[in-house]
Amino acid sequence: MLIRLTGIKKIYQVGVETIHALDGVDLQVDANEFVAIMGPSGSGKSTLMNILGCLDRPTHGTYELAGEQTSRMGGSALARVRNQRIGFVFQSFELMPRFSAVRNVALPLTYSPDGWSNRRRKALDALARVNLADRAAHRPNQLSGGQKQRVAIARALINQPDILLADEPTGNLDSRTTEDILKLLVQLHREGQTIIIVTHERDVAACAQRVIHMHDGRIHSDQPVEQDPDVGSVVAAKRQRDSQEAV
Ligand SMILES: Nc1ncnc2c1ncn2[C@@H]1O[C@H](COP(=O)(O)OP(=O)(O)OP(=O)(O)O)[C@@H](O)[C@H]1O
Ligand SMILES: [Mg+2]
Repeated sequence: MLIRLTGIKKIYQVGVETIHALDGVDLQVDANEFVAIMGPSGSGKSTLMNILGCLDRPTHGTYELAGEQTSRMGGSALARVRNQRIGFVFQSFELMPRFSAVRNVALPLTYSPDGWSNRRRKALDALARVNLADRAAHRPNQLSGGQKQRVAIARALINQPDILLADEPTGNLDSRTTEDILKLLVQLHREGQTIIIVTHERDVAACAQRVIHMHDGRIHSDQPVEQDPDVGSVVAAKRQRDSQEAV
């Protein structure tokens, strides 16, 4: 068992209002699963991802990651877990605008004992894994949306994380680029990567093996799905919708 969440609650107090962003979540994920999380806006998906990624702590409950109780860890131990065990990809890429692609990818290695030439070599390897070796010197504003997201994925992979977490990674991308990113995620999963992705799109979720629906801070359903082996056909449906919307 890679991930074990037990009785997770996240409560926000805003003025007089109490918000139960997560209201008792139990979840277990094994290594090499590919999980999609769906659910309406405000149902707690990002809150759950932030807790899984150790970017945030629950108000109640426990989170065991790879046999370690994260709830008992202090700030620096948690930062180490985040750096070593988690790769996070966001809808808005979150790249450093003044840094080249290779320097962005190398950022998680900043505190490693490696010198720059080793860090650079590792970052170039990671860029090659996402088929972007030829854009290493480009800054984010010199890259397309899909290329930016591939840089972000390379950065997320650089420390060989136990889990790749992606919160709506295709939310800002068109259907062609979504197809590229989904193919990449499916390929990484085949290579053994554990992946948890949040998406609003059913056809994106079809790339996963298991789909969790959230509602009002709780897991409403959790079901295995037949993984669609043909990302192309999945995305064709999305492309058709895009062109209908464009009309
Ligand atoms: N920092 C915060 N302070 C107060 N309330 C918050 C905070 N972050 C999230 N919430 C509230 O918690 C609930 C869950 O938010 P969350 O961002 O997890 O939703 P989501 O499922 O990711 O939605 P979306 O699909 O729109 O991204 C929402 O009601 C939101 O308003
Ligand atoms: Mg969200």
